[in-house]
Amino acid sequence: MDLKILPSQQFINTYHPMSETAKISLQGKEIELPLIIGSEQEVGIDISDLRAKTGAITFDVGYKNSGATASAITYLDGELGILRHRGYSIEDLAENATFMEVAYLLINGELPNKAQYDVFDQNIRSHTLVNEDMKNIFEAWPTGSHPMGQLIAMISSLSSFYPESIGTVQNDNQKLLNVYRLLAKMPTICSMIYKKSLGHPFNYPQNKLDYVSNFLNMTFKHVTEDYEIDPVLVNALNKLLILHADHEQNCSTSTVRLVGSSHANLYASVGAGVAALWGPLHGGANQEVIEMLEIIKSDGGNVEKWVEKAKDKNDSFRLMGFGHRVYKNFDPRAKIIKKACDDVLNKLGVNDPTLEIAKKLEETALADPYFIERKLFPNVDFYSGIIYRAMGFPVEMFTVLFALGRLPGWIAQWNEMREQKQPIGRPRQIYTGEILRPYVDRTKR
Ligand SMILES: CC(C)(COP(=O)(O)OP(=O)(O)OC[C@H]1O[C@@H](n2cnc3c(N)ncnc32)[C@H](O)[C@@H]1OP(=O)(O)O)[C@@H](O)C(=O)NCCC(=O)NCCS
Repeated sequence: MDLKILPSQQFINTYHPMSETAKISLQGKEIELPLIIGSEQEVGIDISDLRAKTGAITFDVGYKNSGATASAITYLDGELGILRHRGYSIEDLAENATFMEVAYLLINGELPNKAQYDVFDQNIRSHTLVNEDMKNIFEAWPTGSHPMGQLIAMISSLSSFYPESIGTVQNDNQKLLNVYRLLAKMPTICSMIYKKSLGHPFNYPQNKLDYVSNFLNMTFKHVTEDYEIDPVLVNALNKLLILHADHEQNCSTSTVRLVGSSHANLYASVGAGVAALWGPLHGGANQEVIEMLEIIKSDGGNVEKWVEKAKDKNDSFRLMGFGHRVYKNFDPRAKIIKKACDDVLNKLGVNDPTLEIAKKLEETALADPYFIERKLFPNVDFYSGIIYRAMGFPVEMFTVLFALGRLPGWIAQWNEMREQKQPIGRPRQIYTGEILRPYVDRTKR
């Protein structure tokens, strides 16, 4: 096999202790903490010894200021709106690469040459089939169950079909086999989920087809009809998957790393990541955006009214697809998707009135002091749903498509975490409950 997992040296190289230190004065005691600096000069305070030296912990709800790891995979500057994978800009990759090349890049650290690409691609093509017993699991889902609930279970269930993935001691070939299997079976599982939602028979993978075409064929081919794979759809989906491929330590990726840090297997860890992605504050937002745009449309298209609702602190409504934990500038992926959205709808001849509402909503929000002051911009989910819908996907499948795109990132991050030999993730807390009190007999309470 050709794929290699980056050596842990890559991790060590990202730690460059500086002569400068941070000083903390705490309850009359002063301690010095080393600084670490990343390859893009980001500075972190290494607090590994803080508790041992002072008894105190840091407190950072939602990890807004805390780095959980050093990583060589993705660089993101939220203030400048920069996103790069292994040093390549997202604009460059989305314009020129295939999703499989980006998957290789994320997992392996370098873009593949032709021979490396062929081996990687061939390995994935040869693992696309899922065990026939998986169909029995699908049969058990009630009609209408949400695709994301199914996806979590199906990915985790791969550990039952490949029990050798569960052991903590695995040689490189076994580890790579899990990577290939997961990448290869994900489109098959996603398309089965879609077919299940329609009550239609599943399509088997066609290994002569590339990754994206194979997924589209399994998803949209009706068993009784021919299906012609539209290159417009292939190109659009290729781009969308690249734009979702990794995003450093976001909620789902941190989940994958955290679960994996207990030495849970790759399938279980990624299944947990899919669960984290489902939430409407994360990947589930793409479904929520379309539902929001539809509500605004049926309400007469008055975007100003909905922008006012989003600003009202007594109203739970938020502008879905707006705002981001790390981007305080345009999300570079949203810029690319907005342009792709116009292109794809034009090429497919689709006239979707929600696109006009989305554009008007963006324009209105971006001119509003509330959004300007809080630096709230459209994120990756704002326009992606409009493209997915034009391609023929129902809204419930949108977050599944996000997961399909994010998979290489989760795998790369999981591998990196294991290679770094990271200790089990286990945050501390500040306890605010009752102090010690004696047990009182039930009859006397
Ligand atoms: C992504 C998100 C969860 C980031 O959350 P966060 O980093 O914890 O930021 P906060 O929720 O603290 O938001 C900061 C401020 O902006 C406001 N805000 C953030 N996103 C908002 C939105 N979409 N609509 C209205 N107000 C928003 C918050 O109310 C808060 O205002 P305040 O300072 O007056 O209290 C948040 O922006 C959001 O809920 N967006 C909508 C969901 C979404 O699109 N998610 C996909 C992300 S890729």
